Amino acid sequence: MWPYPKVLAHRGAGKLAPENTLAALRCGLALGFHAVEFDVMLSKDSVPVLMHDPEFGRTVAGSGLVAGTNAADLQEMDAGSWFDVRFRGEPVPSYEQVIHFCRGHQIWMNTEIKPSPGHDEATGRIVAELSAACFADVVSGDPARLPLLSSFSMTALRAAKRAAPQIPRALLLDNPHPDWKSMLQELSAVALHVNHKHLSQEWAAEIKNAGYGLFCYTVNEPERAHELLRWGVDAFCTDYPDRIPADF
Ligand code: G3P
Ligand code: MG
Repeated sequence: MWPYPKVLAHRGAGKLAPENTLAALRCGLALGFHAVEFDVMLSKDSVPVLMHDPEFGRTVAGSGLVAGTNAADLQEMDAGSWFDVRFRGEPVPSYEQVIHFCRGHQIWMNTEIKPSPGHDEATGRIVAELSAACFADVVSGDPARLPLLSSFSMTALRAAKRAAPQIPRALLLDNPHPDWKSMLQELSAVALHVNHKHLSQEWAAEIKNAGYGLFCYTVNEPERAHELLRWGVDAFCTDYPDRIPADF
């Protein structure tokens, strides 16, 4: 039901190093993490890159839109200085680079499809296609090695399912949704990913009884993590892989 690791480093290890960069992945790896969540968005020329915000200003200095900038220009931009001067010049990595890094280091991936506004269909389709192409050798092997594609966007997940049905999907929900079960069915999803702040013990039991994987974001307190695991939660991501170890 949940063949994947139990604890994931959120946005790489996005509070210990600049989120959604190779530096963050290296930081998680150094702490013994072989499981990661990160966000993927399309550049203007439709290249999937690691990015959370659709506009510059927080993790990349300046103003402008990710969807208005070509990948070559994005890769020249500084995604590290905002975090610490030690990371000055850390580039925006492409999803393909990150896949190669993760495969090279046996890191399992939860790829969050994070469309810029209005780009849901294309982002879901292209991220799924690239995932399928990079894991073509794994598809007939151990399914637990495939990335899990998740998104808050039904449109993106529908497009991912059409483009690469063999790559597993999960629906992200912030608040409980009355139609969660039919949404998962429509997507042929394997799991529901929820904000742990809005999960009740009753809802957790319902999700597990329905046969789905249950994942929580973003859990930073060990006591809360223990409680969620007691409720039947299969896995969660944390901003602090130094506080909640991989073998928690
Ligand atoms: O995938 C779980 C979590 O990352 C969703 O929220 O905003 O951190 O991408 P966010
Ligand atoms: Mg995310």
